Amino acid sequence: MRDHILFHVNGREHQVRAAEVFTTLSNYLRYGLCATGTKVVCEEGDCGACTVLVRRAATEEYRPINSCIQALHQLDGMSIVTVEGLRDGENLSAVQEAMVACHGAQCGYCTPGFVVAMTALYEKHDRVDEKQVRDGLTGNLCRCTGYEPIIKAALAVDGASAAKMRDRYPDLPEAGDAVQTDRFFAPSTLDDAIAWKRDHPGCTIVQGGTDVGVWVNKRAFNAPAVLSLTKLRELDELREEDGVIVAGANVTLAAFERFIEHRIPELFRILNIFGAPQIKNAGTLIGNIANGSPIGDTLPYLIVADAELELNGGARRVVISDFYKGYKQFDLGSDELITRVRVPIIRDTLKLYKVSRRRDLDISAFTAAFRLVMNDGAIESSRIAYGGVGPLVLRLPKTEAFLAGKRPSLELFTEAGAIARSEVAPITDVRGSKEYRLQLAENILPRFWYDAFEVQR
Ligand SMILES: Cc1cc2nc3c(=O)[nH]c(=O)nc-3n(C[C@H](O)[C@H](O)[C@H](O)COP(=O)(O)OP(=O)(O)OC[C@H]3O[C@@H](n4cnc5c(N)ncnc54)[C@H](O)[C@@H]3O)c2cc1C
Ligand code: FES
Ligand code: FES
Repeated sequence: MRDHILFHVNGREHQVRAAEVFTTLSNYLRYGLCATGTKVVCEEGDCGACTVLVRRAATEEYRPINSCIQALHQLDGMSIVTVEGLRDGENLSAVQEAMVACHGAQCGYCTPGFVVAMTALYEKHDRVDEKQVRDGLTGNLCRCTGYEPIIKAALAVDGASAAKMRDRYPDLPEAGDAVQTDRFFAPSTLDDAIAWKRDHPGCTIVQGGTDVGVWVNKRAFNAPAVLSLTKLRELDELREEDGVIVAGANVTLAAFERFIEHRIPELFRILNIFGAPQIKNAGTLIGNIANGSPIGDTLPYLIVADAELELNGGARRVVISDFYKGYKQFDLGSDELITRVRVPIIRDTLKLYKVSRRRDLDISAFTAAFRLVMNDGAIESSRIAYGGVGPLVLRLPKTEAFLAGKRPSLELFTEAGAIARSEVAPITDVRGSKEYRLQLAENILPRFWYDAFEVQR
């Protein structure tokens, strides 16, 4: 058992012990290594100024993440490249040259984050188009230059001749064994993980840390014990089996998004506007489920699809809608953790909605999933789930019963909208008023009719 964590920064090995493993990566870089090219602005994963590249396994690319919400213990066994690691001796990298040539910076505060995120685009591709650039930079905000020169710079890079970080920093530290230090434990067996959780009341599992990292920075959250499942390689599993996708607890949202592109295109569309690459490269699907937010974007699909959670390696299975008992209350014992989720691939009529103030990188105000089983032109049965209208993502049993056996029409779905409105009890918060959400709950049904039926006629 190791008493320290190991990682590389720009090709050099670092070892960190005791309580220092809870330091954020951005603070370690800036205050520990004086690598101040990595900037910190929002400290909650929203602006991208702190972007660095991380590689987890020899088979993986370097991918961008936000270093401000990553604790060092999450980086055991990984290789990190910061903006200081991009240049080759005295020469700027191809991306840095393009930013200079296209006047992509003014005050320069956001620039290192943009340069690192652009470098990630060229790790995967030699040429990128504007859509790839816009998607790749959704997690980076600039307040003064304006995005046009930045996008122009990204498109001007000759990726074929640009150095790839995987060639410059190919090595990863050997770190497959268990680690225990201070109040952090990363076991190498599931039994050890379960025992640690049982024996440490208040123990918090940290996976991508994209929820927990924000609580630590913004709500002074301090867990008495922290458990990581990343050494349990069996939880990296992501496969399809008889029309069901099986995803382990370590599967990131980015890996899941790639896997479902052609399997569940409707959910893929929602994941495309979920967070930013930096968030999805760190955050996990099971973290989204276990966080249990009523506006978690994967939940409406998982609920109408009847996804199933596997606890403690299969000792127990729970249908996802039974998992949620109240606001942030779960059917999960103190000696239990979620090991896998089984996600059915839905082939019925399906539509998902995410309504937020801004299209990209914004938390939803309202979400909805509609799944209809059709028989001979009539609705045989339906499943409807709404998020953002109560303490949980809710099914709408009265609306579902009303639709059963009827032929779809605008009048039918308008009437169904009024019933849906009566089934929910939203509150007013920063993302929307109670009245706005009630109106959405009603109007989304006729909108669904237009999207699912009218466009086919
Ligand atoms: C800038 C930003 C943008 C975001 N955008 C979105 C968005 O568009 N849509 C959205 O839905 N969410 C969004 N999120 C929230 C977050 O990214 C997701 O909820 C993500 O899926 C969390 O996964 P994680 O691995 O990072 O979870 P963590 O932060 O590691 O953990 C989250 C919770 O799950 C628990 N947990 C984790 N794994 C397990 C397990 N195996 N068993 C039991 N409990 C477990 C943890 O203890 C914790 O309570 C955003 C967050 C940020 C910072
Ligand atoms: S400082 Fe804004 S995302 Fe990290
Ligand atoms: S150059 Fe000033 S914030 Fe982007």
